[in-house]
Amino acid sequence: MSLFDQSEKERILQLRATLHHHNYLYYVESRPEISDREFDRLLAELAELESHHPELFDANSPTQRVGSDLSHKFEQVPHRYAMLSLGNTYNRGDVEAFYRRIEEGLGGEPFEICCELKFDGLGISLIYEKGRLVRAVTRGDGTLGDDVTANVRTIRSIPLVLPEGAGWPDEFEIRGEILMPWERFEQLNKARELRELPLFANPRNAASGTLKSQNSAVVAERGLDARLYYLLGENIPAESHYANLEMARGWGFKVSEAMKRVTGLDAVFDYIDYWQEQRKNLPVATDGIVLKVDSIRQQKALGYTAKSPRWAIAYKYPAERALTRLVEVTYHVGRTGAVTPVANMEPIQLSGTMVRRASLHNQDIIAGLDLHIGDMVYVEKAGEIIPQIVGVAKELRDEKLGPKVKFIDHCPDCGAPLVRYEGEAATYCPDATGCPQQIKGRIEHFISRDAMNISSLGPESVDEMFERDLLHDAADLYRLGVKDLSGAYGTRERSAQNIIKAIDRSREAGFDRVVFALGIRFVGKVAAKSLAAHFKTIERLRQAGMEELLSVEGIGAIIAGAVAEYFANPRNLDFVARLQAAGVNMAMPETETLSDCLSGQTVVVSGTFTQHSRDEYKKLIEAHGGKNVTSISSKTSFILAGANMGPSKLEKAQKLGVKIMSETDFLTLIDKTAGSET
Ligand code: IVH
Repeated sequence: MSLFDQSEKERILQLRATLHHHNYLYYVESRPEISDREFDRLLAELAELESHHPELFDANSPTQRVGSDLSHKFEQVPHRYAMLSLGNTYNRGDVEAFYRRIEEGLGGEPFEICCELKFDGLGISLIYEKGRLVRAVTRGDGTLGDDVTANVRTIRSIPLVLPEGAGWPDEFEIRGEILMPWERFEQLNKARELRELPLFANPRNAASGTLKSQNSAVVAERGLDARLYYLLGENIPAESHYANLEMARGWGFKVSEAMKRVTGLDAVFDYIDYWQEQRKNLPVATDGIVLKVDSIRQQKALGYTAKSPRWAIAYKYPAERALTRLVEVTYHVGRTGAVTPVANMEPIQLSGTMVRRASLHNQDIIAGLDLHIGDMVYVEKAGEIIPQIVGVAKELRDEKLGPKVKFIDHCPDCGAPLVRYEGEAATYCPDATGCPQQIKGRIEHFISRDAMNISSLGPESVDEMFERDLLHDAADLYRLGVKDLSGAYGTRERSAQNIIKAIDRSREAGFDRVVFALGIRFVGKVAAKSLAAHFKTIERLRQAGMEELLSVEGIGAIIAGAVAEYFANPRNLDFVARLQAAGVNMAMPETETLSDCLSGQTVVVSGTFTQHSRDEYKKLIEAHGGKNVTSISSKTSFILAGANMGPSKLEKAQKLGVKIMSETDFLTLIDKTAGSET
């Protein structure tokens, strides 16, 4: 082997490792570190090198698969028709080449092209039988996908039952994209920022993370949307792709209004040019356009390569990027102590907004960029709201170049030496009790709108009162008087009175808000609701063991661990005790009694339901005098079983002879015996 070959071999191995890593970040973790374009570029480089070295063939090379988003949480089911991806290009020349190949492939026969937007979400396959949605499956590896039916059912724009007589075939599949609208995406990230959870880089990651949540209540709340763009089946109505989609629109599917059927290459480019600007006004993210030969007969004649159809291609718009100078790196300390480096740059116009700052995420990202003060950096907003530094123009370095950016080793706020825990990318200030930034952050979280909603008290007042030694933690709020707030510090007596009133009112805030306001790591609004509904009092929540925490709907190991850790800390116990002493509500209201028809009965609720949520069923059981338990024993009176009840539970129930009751039977039972309205 020549020296040249040797270095090519090394490059191939290096590219495979790199791409496997980014593939994992993208598909499994939903948090890519490089842009799609960069990924595609590396993949193309690898494919090129591999074509020169057939002796290095590897069935597991990143070039040998279409990507996989399989996760272990869902049942995996085979696709009836393989879910292929599309050939991708960023190059207008390739669009023309595609057009010429079609002309040639069809031997000069006239053809039409259906132009569509390329929606940037998560591919989905929906199966309908007799007009009802029976299954929804993600793309997975193209052959097997995750069955996410329960989650997809929560998406309002996907019809569950089609209107009678609309002309749909008895069996068909329709494919499309699950999307998170921009507006929802921004709301979600704002809420996550407050809770110091990692932000989603773009709506696609947010949609994908949401659809793969095991808690369909979370999915329902996130406001996902969909666009459908491909109808398949044995008896689909028309010979034209376009006409099929128009019919599907008539059956209640959300089909993009931007779809257009054209003839000729000029019309194709007109479409591309028009949407390059107009797409910015759409409520959902798009990253390009898709061209499809319209006639299904012609599609069949053109056929497929191993990976994608020959009758379609995707053209991706270039990401908007700008070049500007890095002036300074500053550090922000959040309420959990996590230290985030922020790049401060010379202001630059990008996709319609002025960009001054970009998050640098963590120490490793800075090191990976080999970032120096004074560097010219590329900033991109490829559908991302938060600008990212995607690279450094090293060739532009000159005598003005400053020192290499070195991550700080002491807290910029309190001076404590920073720590980094094994396996975590983040760096923390460990001084939770002494670091002013963390203390103020926790108070700001406590008063925020979704927590205790004392929003008339802004961050400035918190700052000021902290400086004046009036506030050491949020429990001190309840000792404040009008005098503390008004006077020399810019607050008028009238608004001081209003703030005191708001603080006073917050004592009555619902228990779920209080649980959220405590600021337990990873406990967001939804988790706080579940915990409050399950445990009902702070006392029971405090004493809960891991097993019981894990039995709560939507609570996994990370949240359960964080709750246990929170209540293991005497400082937190003292904080909670002082809130309680101040009269803050620490319990759910007593549940009303509807009947005693389940009195003396113990019930296990398992599976997923359609009429009420699992928590609502638990409440109903209690309201009718029954008791909820989590594990099946010979003493269990019956199991209220929804869909997808675990097989081990089912087996145990059968072995012990415990009765299994369906959702409808249960509702009839409580309805009849109690005459109650449910
Ligand atoms: S058609 C065989 N049309 O882009 C045709 N795909 O790599 C299959 N996508 O996996 C897809 N918008 O998730 C098609 N208007 C559109 C699309 C679209 C977005 C996604 C889809 C697909 C990927 C292509």
